Amino acid sequence: MKNFNNLGNFNILGIETSCDETAAAVYSSSKGILSNAIYSQIELHQKYGGVVPEVASRAHLEKMPLIIDQALTEAKLKLEDIDIIAVTNKPGLAGSLLIGLCYAKGIAWSENKKIIGVNHLEGHIFSACIENNIEFPFLCLTASGGHTALYYVTGYGDYKLLGQTLDDAVGEAFDKVSKLIGLGYPGGPIIERYAAQVNFKDFFQYPRPLSNSYDFSLSGLKTAVLYHLKENGWYNLETKILSNTITELIKQEIASSLLCAITDIFKIKLKKAFKEFSDIKSVAFVGGVSANKYIRSQLKDLCEKSNKKFYVPSIEYCTDNAAMIAFVGNYKALQNKFDSLELDIF
Ligand code: KG4
Ligand code: ZN
Repeated sequence: MKNFNNLGNFNILGIETSCDETAAAVYSSSKGILSNAIYSQIELHQKYGGVVPEVASRAHLEKMPLIIDQALTEAKLKLEDIDIIAVTNKPGLAGSLLIGLCYAKGIAWSENKKIIGVNHLEGHIFSACIENNIEFPFLCLTASGGHTALYYVTGYGDYKLLGQTLDDAVGEAFDKVSKLIGLGYPGGPIIERYAAQVNFKDFFQYPRPLSNSYDFSLSGLKTAVLYHLKENGWYNLETKILSNTITELIKQEIASSLLCAITDIFKIKLKKAFKEFSDIKSVAFVGGVSANKYIRSQLKDLCEKSNKKFYVPSIEYCTDNAAMIAFVGNYKALQNKFDSLELDIF
């Protein structure tokens, strides 16, 4: 076993199973990311319109060994070349987390590897650092299917939560509205596609709540869309049935208005933080929602106008992945922050 305090080269196997992606990646302390293997379960959950926890756990169990093999093969390494297992241990779906964690512990115990538990959100926060050398302190806007939060980041593993969603996450708002207007899952990319058809115009001015706070509240947006549909006779609140009088154009206008409202909410929070934290030189936008090209371009414009650098991860590091988990594992190893086999999901 290597002595990690003397910073010699080492290899990390990252494992991520917090939701509906079964992922493994290899990170070399000297060369960076060597592989990033992902099995997305989206198709399994599509017919239910959202993630079914029991289905997710079973798929993780089935795919985990194959994905780990793939990550090692792509990295041109064998399990014996791995020194550390970095595994997402929270937060997430309990059954899903347990599959990854038990797998990681099994390997760590039987193959005598070190183990490091990684907070999934910390993985997202530093995902933009995988490919970029971002100067600290920076602001990190995290937006995914499960979380929406703004952080003030001062160093590797060192960050302060400024505000977070009090109800739905942004990705969840996209997913719910998409389902409501009869479009598919996951909603984010579909809403983006529909909004593009009408040039991202704001037709219905949905609310932008909590403009004086760093916290987010997004459930009201879904309710605003719901009542807008009801008032126009496109949705029956009692039967929960969408009328077939709603046209594709109306759906596009709703999608576009929703996207504009969410983009505005992000801009309002960033502008507030720019005023308060004048030492901030950069902004990172991360998580599944940061795959959205419209929001990216709007936030980039705002940052440029405010003299801040703007970073987003490559698409493969926006949605859930194990590369970001292995990356966090790398700096935790350098900080000598290892865990024992008692590591749990809480
Ligand atoms: O980070 P992620 O893969 O998983 C969680 O940790 O939740 O994020 C998934 C979320 C979903 O809600 C999905 O609708 C959203 O990211 N998403 C998008 C886009 N692609 C994925 N939202 C907006 N625009 C996109 N292009
Ligand atoms: Zn995530």
